[in-house]
Amino acid sequence: MKDNPLEKNILITGGAGFIGSHVIRLFVNKYPNYRIFNLDALTYAGNLENIKDIENAPNYHFIKANITDAKTIKALFQKHQFDSVIHLAAESHVDRSISNPKIFVDTNVTGTLNLMEAALETWQGNFKNKIFYHISTDEVYGTLGETGLFTETTSYAPNSPYSASKAASDHFVRAYGETYNLPYVISNCSNNYGPNQFPEKLIPLFINNIIENKALPVYGDGKYTRDWLYVLDHAKAIDLIFHKGNNKSTYNVGGFNEWQNIDLIKLLCEIMDKKLDRNEGDSETLITFIKDRPGHDKRYAIDASKINKELGWEPSVTFKEGLMKTVDWYLQNPAWIEAVVSGSYQEYYKMQYL
Ligand code: NAD
Ligand code: DAU
Repeated sequence: MKDNPLEKNILITGGAGFIGSHVIRLFVNKYPNYRIFNLDALTYAGNLENIKDIENAPNYHFIKANITDAKTIKALFQKHQFDSVIHLAAESHVDRSISNPKIFVDTNVTGTLNLMEAALETWQGNFKNKIFYHISTDEVYGTLGETGLFTETTSYAPNSPYSASKAASDHFVRAYGETYNLPYVISNCSNNYGPNQFPEKLIPLFINNIIENKALPVYGDGKYTRDWLYVLDHAKAIDLIFHKGNNKSTYNVGGFNEWQNIDLIKLLCEIMDKKLDRNEGDSETLITFIKDRPGHDKRYAIDASKINKELGWEPSVTFKEGLMKTVDWYLQNPAWIEAVVSGSYQEYYKMQYL
């Protein structure tokens, strides 16, 4: 079946989500010899519209399945003989992890374990050209003070149920590498933004609220810092790490792009006023300071020098350029927003903000 050495059966989980959809598109278009299997449970965050443009590509296959279902996952590995896994499927939103932590353990920890168990059973100790790539977050490192950066050797100190679940899954991946010799690579990335992001995360939530003239709910004093990276730059880093990363290594990925929330929000308001032909300052009047997020991490900032030196990766999109592209995408895709904010989103919004 695989006569061409360049042929691979690659399992990408979470490919209907925000980052996963950009990774899937990049791989399907760039590697026609790879058979790309997108496994996704299509939770509230998964949306096949995100990858509509590639759904008929001959090297693309969609599988609706839940990674918490160990039996089904094993059967799928046996059937399709995946050579490699790029694992993105997760519960990804910190606020949801605060109100409902258990599903974060089920999906992020048990789900990851199920995938590794299935990989070990299928690969039977033959690890040549095999890799289990776990996509993780900088939140595992906890919070920084005014100075300093997260490096690959920073100790783990997760503060939210979400980050604790991602930290646990990172530890399990490493433990499977040590104990069972599972070939793996992990990357820990900073905050992504761009098209197709579910409007529960800061940037798309605020874009949508500005369009609808709704309050912009800023947690606490807004003086929390995040390091923002355009999603396609993350997808390119994933491509490089998958192909060239060292076995049993971790890589930090970040934008060298720190912003205090309130400054970012003001910049976004300025861009939206121009794009919507509103008076300067109109959107800023929507800013509303609300009760802080419990356990809110003060500052994240990534030292991405290892991936830069070893693999030659660096962000290619400037923040202003990326924000413009993102805003344009949301303004050009009202039907996408309408579809995702109807139904259960309304319940979530009421519970979180009203
Ligand atoms: P997302 O919430 O947009 O998408 C998650 C995807 O996983 C969805 O398609 C969903 O249907 C699927 N999924 C959820 N539970 C599943 C299950 N039990 N079985 C199968 N599929 C399931 O998430 P995202 O923002 O695209 O994040 C993707 C990955 O990247 C996550 O692992 C996240 O921790 C990590 N990450 C995200 C960011 C960020 O800024 N968004 C930054 C660093 C790392
Ligand atoms: O750092 C990487 C992480 O970034 C990823 O692992 C997570 O999956 C992703 O959700 C993101 O986590 P954050 O909690 O940093 O992202 P969020 O967009 O939820 O919040 C960004 C900042 O904005 C944070 O300081 C909280 C603040 N915020 C967020 C929301 C949703 C507000 O002030 N108001 C809001 O309504």
